[in-house]
Amino acid sequence: MAGVQRNLMGFKDGIENPDPASPADMDRFVWVTDAGQEPAWAVGGTYQVVRIIRMHLEPWDRMNRLQQEHGFGRRKDTGAPLSGLRERDTPDYNGDPHGNITPLDSHARLANPRTPETDHQRILRRGYNYDHGLDHTATHDLGVAFCCYQKDIQRQYEPIQTRLDGERLATVLTPIGGGYFYTLPGVRNATDWYASTLLTTPAPRP
Ligand code: HEM
Repeated sequence: MAGVQRNLMGFKDGIENPDPASPADMDRFVWVTDAGQEPAWAVGGTYQVVRIIRMHLEPWDRMNRLQQEHGFGRRKDTGAPLSGLRERDTPDYNGDPHGNITPLDSHARLANPRTPETDHQRILRRGYNYDHGLDHTATHDLGVAFCCYQKDIQRQYEPIQTRLDGERLATVLTPIGGGYFYTLPGVRNATDWYASTLLTTPAPRP
């Protein structure tokens, strides 16, 4: 079945994202622009959050499919929202205020409740599955290196992460590492070079 890749819990992961082909989306959500409080050399770069999250597949596999779908708020086969039919359908949370179709504490609904108040919080996500085989207790050591990019970690990533505290999936996930990073702008043309903005900006006077 085409579409985005699956994570190791078997769900399509990476469906909803700002459009990387849209300069308007990228300027609004991902690239540091000169409208903020950033130093000039940071413009055109982005902030990255990495979170290494171990998945506990033994309890996960004991859940039935509906319980799993309620955990993510999406269908396991198609990736569609629980209120829709296709992967790209927009979830209808307004018509389901009590969470009878999509539980209020499901991952996708908490991460992006689709309200005007949270619209500015979108992030560009990409998960990288990892599998280290069995650990010393013969338990699977696997999960995802969750990466996301945004122009402002406090405005975008942190409120999402705060909402996800206590999500349904929390019992089968354990964050084990991660960090915040700044990513320099790419090389723009044949005369440009990597980190040019950073290395040609005079150091501030003490
Ligand atoms: C083990 C860790 C995680 C897994 C397995 C996971 C998986 C998923 C899946 C399957 C979806 C629904 C399909 C999609 O739109 O891609 C989703 C959506 C999403 N996740 Fe995660 N995720 C994880 C961690 C995180 C973290 C740490 C954040 C941010 C703090 C996050 C933010 C989001 C967002 C913003 C959406 C899109 C919701 C929407 O716009 O409808 N996820 N995730």
